[in-house]
Amino acid sequence: MHDMTAKKEALSAYQPHPNFAKYHKSFPTTAWMRKRAPKNVPLFAFEYGDTGAGNDVGIDHNWAAFDNIKIVPRYGVTNKLPPVEVELFGQRYNAPIGIAPMGGPSLVWPGADILMAKAAQRARVPYTLSVAGGATIEQAAEAAPDVFWLQLYRFWHDDHKIGFDLMRRAQAVEVKVLTLTLDVPVRTTRSREAYAGLASEFRPNVRMIYEMMVRPKWLLALLRNGYPRFATIDQYAPPRASTNEVIAFARARMGGAFNWEEVKRYRDFWKGPMALKGILHPEDAEKAVALGIEGIWMSNHGGRQIEALVPSIDALPAVVSAVGDKATVIIDSGIRSGQDVMRALALGAKAAFAGKSFLWAVAALGDEGPAQLIDLYIDELKASLGQVGALSAADARNARVLHPGRIEF
Ligand SMILES: Cc1cc2nc3c(=O)[nH]c(=O)nc-3n(C[C@H](O)[C@H](O)[C@H](O)COP(=O)(O)O)c2cc1C
Repeated sequence: MHDMTAKKEALSAYQPHPNFAKYHKSFPTTAWMRKRAPKNVPLFAFEYGDTGAGNDVGIDHNWAAFDNIKIVPRYGVTNKLPPVEVELFGQRYNAPIGIAPMGGPSLVWPGADILMAKAAQRARVPYTLSVAGGATIEQAAEAAPDVFWLQLYRFWHDDHKIGFDLMRRAQAVEVKVLTLTLDVPVRTTRSREAYAGLASEFRPNVRMIYEMMVRPKWLLALLRNGYPRFATIDQYAPPRASTNEVIAFARARMGGAFNWEEVKRYRDFWKGPMALKGILHPEDAEKAVALGIEGIWMSNHGGRQIEALVPSIDALPAVVSAVGDKATVIIDSGIRSGQDVMRALALGAKAAFAGKSFLWAVAALGDEGPAQLIDLYIDELKASLGQVGALSAADARNARVLHPGRIEF
């Protein structure tokens, strides 16, 4: 067992942001945010955050998988909005909803990493910084001291020298959960991103410059926050390296997915809870548990790698029954509403995380977007649980669920 001392102080009753009602009227669901997003940010920025692999069929499958899950309600049980606090890896959070790690969100909206971190801290829900994000580990820790999770890709160069240093830095600022991403063994093409002019480096062409000029809110955010950087890696690159030079530096040292031996090395080094992200097969989940991993983070990378992966939600019941109470199962890929969070809880996930929808929120609403979306998810989750007769977030597990996509292994 690793250091998992429970931090059980009572969380104060959570109050939504004062602007919640105002924004809720204009953006009653994430679909409204997604519709508004490309009107506020350059097309290449929207496409970067929104694209899937190929023709986006993987994204469609993720969404359809959630849409097809139906709950049979029970009435006469409660007329109250149930509590949704949750304990994850020994720590209390206000809701079983988190922000998934994203590289380059500051391209979609300059400053997005820290805005998401602060919103998560305010609401006391998990915030995950990507190692490819636009804030350093230390900056994220300052913005989200109580809810800070970190995700790492595989920096294999020089016997994982950067990878281990990143863990040292994470340990120093008391990152709550360390996550290793396994589901990017090779690079694939995200079609809309490539078509919009984003290659391995950021070199705006004439069209992209025009797109920036006609999006003044985005330009102002750029002026306030500066050009997006691969911030966590900056300090390892040669002094005064440009954004593109840091990207090239990182790419030459990073890549592939952690193999099981490497997972074990990282597990042995890291002193807190660890999750593996991208698991879809129950046998991989069992292998992780055997290595002492506490968290199974189910994901198909939001449909961004290839279209043909199974939706994580369809593989969830099999993974939950494979690991039992030996690990905490959390999930992402396709979450767009509090109802989706409820569906994930009903099928055995302890919490659900969202990626793209946070980018729609920040693009649509600017700086207040992330806080607004967290409140929307919490509001919807409570209403959904209340509607089906669940007495708490955990009680969703007792609901009768119709799940036509469920995979039997
Ligand atoms: C713009 C973008 C960048 C991402 N970068 C990373 C990353 O650096 N590391 C990682 O583990 N996952 C990354 N992901 C995947 C997310 O963590 C998450 O698995 C996915 O977005 C969840 O699906 P959803 O977008 O349908 O909510 C990224 C996703 C997006 C949209």
